[in-house]
Amino acid sequence: MKRPVARITGTGGYLPERRMDNHELSKRVETSDAWIRERTGIIERRIAAPGEMTSDLALQASRRALEMAGLTVNDLDMILVGTISPDLLFPSVATLLLRKLGGTRFIPAFDLQAACTGFLYGLSVGESFIASGQCRRVLVCGAETFSRVVDWRDRSTCVLFGDGAGAVVLEAVEGTEDGRGLLSTHIHADGVSADLLKASGGVSAGPPSDRGPEMDGIGYVLMQGNEVYKQAVTVMGRLVDETLAANGLEKSQVDWLVPHQANIRIIQGIAKRLGMGMDRVVVTVERHGNTSAASVPLALDEAVRDGRIQPGQLVLMEAFGAGFTWGSALMRW
Ligand code: ACO
Repeated sequence: MKRPVARITGTGGYLPERRMDNHELSKRVETSDAWIRERTGIIERRIAAPGEMTSDLALQASRRALEMAGLTVNDLDMILVGTISPDLLFPSVATLLLRKLGGTRFIPAFDLQAACTGFLYGLSVGESFIASGQCRRVLVCGAETFSRVVDWRDRSTCVLFGDGAGAVVLEAVEGTEDGRGLLSTHIHADGVSADLLKASGGVSAGPPSDRGPEMDGIGYVLMQGNEVYKQAVTVMGRLVDETLAANGLEKSQVDWLVPHQANIRIIQGIAKRLGMGMDRVVVTVERHGNTSAASVPLALDEAVRDGRIQPGQLVLMEAFGAGFTWGSALMRW
């Protein structure tokens, strides 16, 4: 018997209302609009309101994805959330999301911690549950309030990130001859480069009651940006080759690249490697900054809703993040 294929039947995105542009940032730290634009492509990012949590952003994006799919939360068999800025250490954002969506079935719901690759990890896990026949409908979300993890005194990181959420509904489809659906997902980690990009703290910092002044700064993002940059470009290039080879496809057959939105120069590098013009690359980094696990589903949602991505087209999604982790998904839309 043929395995069911997973198809994305709904997408949704949500950005907090508050915009913070580069000029505002240059009043906080020693930086400039010119430096940020030239090195990253970012012009502005969104910042969650006080009290607006990662699960609240996930809720808005998920509602929109469910609405597009014509489903309610009780039609779902699983909820997956990629995040590194959860509301709480536990319980997971996915369980909070299940409750906020009003779910009354006791479906599995859990978070995936794979940094900026969290959404791709979620797609891969969701696809596996669908292919094995254990689930028919899976909500996969990437959601972050990264503004709460950055050190607003550190110009080398605070200019890069933003808050937001994106979500998709994956549904099982059988017996289709059109080849539409997820063709393959590829997820990886090395774990050897953890010190290049991390947020220390959490349990390793000890109980909050025992923390002295030497712990100031613990809990914030630390990044050796230029080293991460080099590795991201190399690894993403290999990943694109791996993904296309697994499907016997050529670079020229890809209609849309939906990359992780960390830096416009990394995105341009991958597009060049694919031989793609930037008119076939979905770019949101200038308006969103790096929203970590939310960046790929947010970009995807934008290009689906504005009609760029059309049924039958080949869509390549990819991401790279702390760990390092990296992942891709190839989809016949
Ligand atoms: N404004 C002005 N100057 C700055 C700023 C700033 N905001 N930040 C750093 N600088 C200075 C540095 O101090 C340095 O000065 P120096 O030459 O006097 O020492 C100079 O600019 C160059 O710094 P670099 O770090 O070498 O700059 P680079 O060109 O590498 O750009 C950047 C930095 C944008 C961070 C880039 O390296 C990058 O995008 N890296 C990859 C990020 C990424 O992909 N992360 C993975 C995903 S994130 C995740 O998983 C959570």
